[in-house]
Amino acid sequence: MNIVITGASSGIGYQTALAFSATIQNRIICMSRNVRKLKMLHDEVYKKNPAAKLMILELDLETLDEKKIKDVLADYGMKHIDILINNAGALINKPFGKLTDADWQHLYGVNVFGVAKLIKLLLPYLQHKEIRSHIVNISSMGGVQGSSKFSGLSAYSSSKGALAVLTECLAEEFKPLNISVNCLAIGAVQTEMLQKAFPDYRAPLEAAQMAAFIVDFATNGHRYFNGKILPVSLSTP
Ligand SMILES: NC(=O)c1ccc[n+]([C@@H]2O[C@H](COP(=O)([O-])OP(=O)(O)OC[C@H]3O[C@@H](n4cnc5c(N)ncnc54)[C@H](OP(=O)(O)O)[C@@H]3O)[C@@H](O)[C@H]2O)c1
Repeated sequence: MNIVITGASSGIGYQTALAFSATIQNRIICMSRNVRKLKMLHDEVYKKNPAAKLMILELDLETLDEKKIKDVLADYGMKHIDILINNAGALINKPFGKLTDADWQHLYGVNVFGVAKLIKLLLPYLQHKEIRSHIVNISSMGGVQGSSKFSGLSAYSSSKGALAVLTECLAEEFKPLNISVNCLAIGAVQTEMLQKAFPDYRAPLEAAQMAAFIVDFATNGHRYFNGKILPVSLSTP
């Protein structure tokens, strides 16, 4: 399968790329801003599995370089994408009254606009008459209507709510294109981002455990779900 993962330089995305790369049939393009960390992923993958096929790409979702992405796909001979995992995310933990315009712009720029722009750019690669592709958007329990909310996370959680509803809209619109779109609203997983949001909290899941679920869901979930916002959470937060 041909797979694109954003936010693969750390946490859940890193572990998801690692898990996908264990299957030699998979060709994976991993994107994020931090090239040093992406190279660490690259090295770890090839150390574990020299036959793996993983490529890294420096990408800032806020300023999305469309040509760079298209060039990489062409270099890699990737005409079709089976799975797109929009995992990259940004978080700011600040009281609402202290959030600046730049904070809002940044969070929505990464968590919503960046995802929308990337999906639009990759749309021609995702549609295929015979093969159903799967877009998996990684949202948060905080972005689910009626879930527990936490002070300081208004920009983050509302952006994740927008991503969840965008999922429902695109699933409807992409039905004729043979593309399924689902959203995983995940709960606490022990990563750098969780530490930023809840510094004293210890999550019940490690990134590798969540990654194992995401790999399975991204590979098989589109046979059972489309346009769904699925809570994947053991705890509150
Ligand atoms: N951990 C949790 O408890 C939890 C709970 C709910 C939802 N989530 C969601 O799960 C996803 C993964 O988070 P994580 O916990 O693994 O956090 P993480 O370790 O902080 O990883 C976030 C990833 O997003 C990338 N990223 C951030 N800004 C970016 C930008 N402007 N352009 C491109 N990439 C960018 C980062 O890479 P660079 O810095 O290299 O760009 C990094 O690879 C996020 O969408 C997050 O909202 C996590």
